[in-house]
Parts: sequence; C-alpha cells; structure tokens
Amino acid sequence: MSESQSKASVQGTGAFTYIKITDLLNSYNFIASSYSFWSRLMYGNSLLAIQLLLIKELPHKGHLLILGGGIGQILPSIYNQSPNLKITFLEASSKMIALAKKQIPTGQNITFIHSDSLESMKIECDYVYASFFLDLFSPSHIKAIVRTIENHQTHPVTWFIADFHLGPKVKYRLLRAFQVKLSILFFTITTNHHQNFLPEVFEFFTKNRYKSMIIINLKHSFLSAQVFKS
Ligand SMILES: C[S@@+](CC[C@H](N)C(=O)[O-])C[C@H]1O[C@@H](n2cnc3c(N)ncnc32)[C@H](O)[C@@H]1O
Repeated sequence: MSESQSKASVQGTGAFTYIKITDLLNSYNFIASSYSFWSRLMYGNSLLAIQLLLIKELPHKGHLLILGGGIGQILPSIYNQSPNLKITFLEASSKMIALAKKQIPTGQNITFIHSDSLESMKIECDYVYASFFLDLFSPSHIKAIVRTIENHQTHPVTWFIADFHLGPKVKYRLLRAFQVKLSILFFTITTNHHQNFLPEVFEFFTKNRYKSMIIINLKHSFLSAQVFKS
C-alpha cells in the first residue's frame, strides 16, 4: 500500500499543519492483553531493554509527553529515574490505558489521554517520548506529528525516541527485515494498521537538522534509542 493510501490525512504546512489519523482509536484493544507476550515471543526482552537504557537519559524535572505508551510497562522505571516528572500519557487504546493504569507507582504525576488524533493535542511539554510509535506512520505523517506537537510549544522540545532501525550497517539485515515484515503482517491482521513498510524514523530527525545528543544501540544497531534536540 502506498503512502497516499494510508488512512490518515495531513493537511496544511508549517504553523498550520493539521493531522487527522482515523480508525486508530481502540484498534489495539484486541491485542492489548497479549501485547507483551507477542513482543517477547518475537524480540525477547530487547524492546524493553532499549527503552530502559533510554529512560536513564530522562531529566529529573519538567513535563514529559508519552506518545502511544501502550501497556505502560515503562512507567515504574520512569518513576525510579525521575519521580518528579509530570507525565501526559497519550494512547489510542482504552484497554492499553486500563493496563497502563495498573502499572503506575504511587506518587507518579500522570494524566492519561485516550485519543488517536493529534490535532486537538495542544499539550505544552518539555520532552516527548515515543517508543515503537512513530514507525506506525508514513514519513509525511511523522513530519506532521512532530510539527504539530512542536507548533504548540513556546520553547524547543527534546525528543526521546526508541525504534527499529534497518540501516545498511545492521548485522543480519535480511533476518531483521524479515522480522519487521512479520511484525507488520501481525499488526495488519490484528489492528487497523495500513502501512506495509518501516519508515526511517531516525533519519527523519537527522535529515531535518535535529542534533542527536545521545545514541544507544542494541542488537547490532537493529534497535536504536536516540535523544534529539532541534
Ligand atoms: C506498537 S505499540 C507500542 C507501545 C509502546 N510504546 C511500547 O513501546 O511497547 C503502538 C501503540 O500506539 C498506540 N497508538 C497508535 N496510534 C495512535 C495514535 N494516533 N495516538 C495515540 N496512540 C496511538 C496503540 O494503541 C499502541 O498502544
């Protein structure tokens, strides 16, 4: 399926970027309770491991916006690292949110938002955390998501990104590409996922002149976590 066939639409440019992503609300409900099982079956503990390394880089104060936070398995680790962070947890699946709420440590300052649309997200924050989230979208939608969030800020945000990376230097690249294809097939069958390729998430930031402040790689660079500043 081509980018233009994706069920999301991006309208406008620059300061007036507007993003409407349809049909994602609750589309992950079906797999919410088994998400962790499937993730470990496919990748072992490595998707969590790369996030735990990224979380160590989080600052101690400020407002963190988590995009598509899933079952919230990272919330206790975020609290251990930065108990004073204010967190907004944006998630499209009500069942994922219900599971995430069970993970909150006592004292964590967190607000949940159940939504799949970013156009109404006028959230002022200092940092954005997105793990295995931006890869759901086409390059133009990644751009719109980043621009939409940034347009609501009065100061630059720092981006904490963890995702798959299929760059030319990745070891066992064919095997990794096959794993990614299988994952995409899985999400196509079980959720309302419409994109059949892995976008170059990290390249989006580097090509748009963000500075990569920290780079953490796992699995011979197949999994990467980076902190970007504009
Ligand atoms: C592949 S899962 C990743 C979950 C989690 N970040 C992790 O690393 O385990 C993607 C998550 O993004 C959520 N999601 C998808 N589209 C979304 C949207 N437009 N707005 C908010 N959440 C969305 C899904 O419901 C799902 O929980």
